[in-house]
Amino acid sequence: MSDRPVRESPGDRSWFVRDRFGMFIHWGLYALPARHEWVKNQEEIPDEVYQRYFDRFDPDLYDPGVWADAAAGAGMRYFVVTSKHHEGFCLWDSALTDYKVTRTPYGRDLLGPMVDAFRSRGMRVGFYHSLIDWHHPDFVIDDIHPQRNHPEREAMNRTRDQSRYVEYLHGQVRELLTRFGRIDVLWCDFSYPGRGRDGKGRDQWDSPRLYRTIRELQPRVLLNDRMDLDDGWDIKTPEQWQPQGWIEVDGMPVTWEACQTFSGSWGYHRDEASWKSVGQLIRMLADTVSKGGNLLLNVGPTGRGELDHRALERLRGIGAWMRRHGRSIYGCTQAPAEFAVPQDCRLTWNPDTRRLYVHVFAWPFRHLHLRGYRGKVAYAQLLSDASEVAVTGLSDHQARMERAGPDDLVLELPVQQPDAEVSVIELFLTGAR
Ligand code: GLC
Repeated sequence: MSDRPVRESPGDRSWFVRDRFGMFIHWGLYALPARHEWVKNQEEIPDEVYQRYFDRFDPDLYDPGVWADAAAGAGMRYFVVTSKHHEGFCLWDSALTDYKVTRTPYGRDLLGPMVDAFRSRGMRVGFYHSLIDWHHPDFVIDDIHPQRNHPEREAMNRTRDQSRYVEYLHGQVRELLTRFGRIDVLWCDFSYPGRGRDGKGRDQWDSPRLYRTIRELQPRVLLNDRMDLDDGWDIKTPEQWQPQGWIEVDGMPVTWEACQTFSGSWGYHRDEASWKSVGQLIRMLADTVSKGGNLLLNVGPTGRGELDHRALERLRGIGAWMRRHGRSIYGCTQAPAEFAVPQDCRLTWNPDTRRLYVHVFAWPFRHLHLRGYRGKVAYAQLLSDASEVAVTGLSDHQARMERAGPDDLVLELPVQQPDAEVSVIELFLTGAR
């Protein structure tokens, strides 16, 4: 559906670039300390102390149907959940460990019901699986491990056998890719070869073999880019920053997905306050699609099993916008270069319907200039209510005053922004439907 040729890879990107918007879910024991999913690392907490969260993990209010409804209501079309994060805790009943939800007071699988709930609402399914494991006894202690400053670090490492950990890692990925039906996205996180002592990358994960296993079990799964392989990936995944344009590798545009948080943490963080506003999040989504990318927006559910009320509020705000403006997101991508981006705007483009969407990030005073658009626009309307927007040229005098050229068009806008956080003007091009 993209107009631009994009780097080829085996994963199925056809649904992905159409759906554009997904929910990331970071959930694990770290929901209980409620102060960042890296808390075990940041506070250098030993296993014996971290055990207190395992012993009390009991999300009694967990209802994945409610989560899936919140995601669908926000206009999200897929989800990616942490099957295991760096702390090593598993959300499913893995045969390869006891460090899993079925051994906590909760005592039941979390992942299966979640997959069913989201799938039954038409959403695609993804797993985030941590390559890193701060609980497994064979994982060699490195510079980002909670025990990095332990006086016995080297002695402890002598009994650790990374190759046994690799078997565990590969075995768990096999479980994830065989027990839950078709998996659409797999997110392996992350590699840091050469970073400090015992930093880890393809050799420490045996990434080439892991890659072969993944492709053998789920040939069309979309794989992220964090296994430290030059070739074995489908999507690039910028995190906590927005690229300036379509992401390229070796001069070739690639399939990409920005992953972002509502606030400064991925896991539930009770006291963190840097929550983005609904408007900011909508602009982030439009900005992403205007550069040919997807947005994966993260929620960190609580230890009781509910989505954070601050996230819910924002999901509802985004949903209200998406209900009327989804047409400028789904099936859309970066506009062809012939269409100049108007001031303070982002453009998205649906190559099938050949409609152009002007996302107005800052409402101007009366005139929105479309440079060089003369002859290209047959009709314009506000997307929210299908009300006509006049498309005109300017008188010679006015054009001189406003420094418009003979090929420019002007959208005549009301002085007050009539709606929405981000207003969108839908342009029907000449010669198109
Ligand atoms: C990073 C972090 C992590 C988060 C992830 C999301 O790699 O380690 O906590 O899960 O990014 O992209």
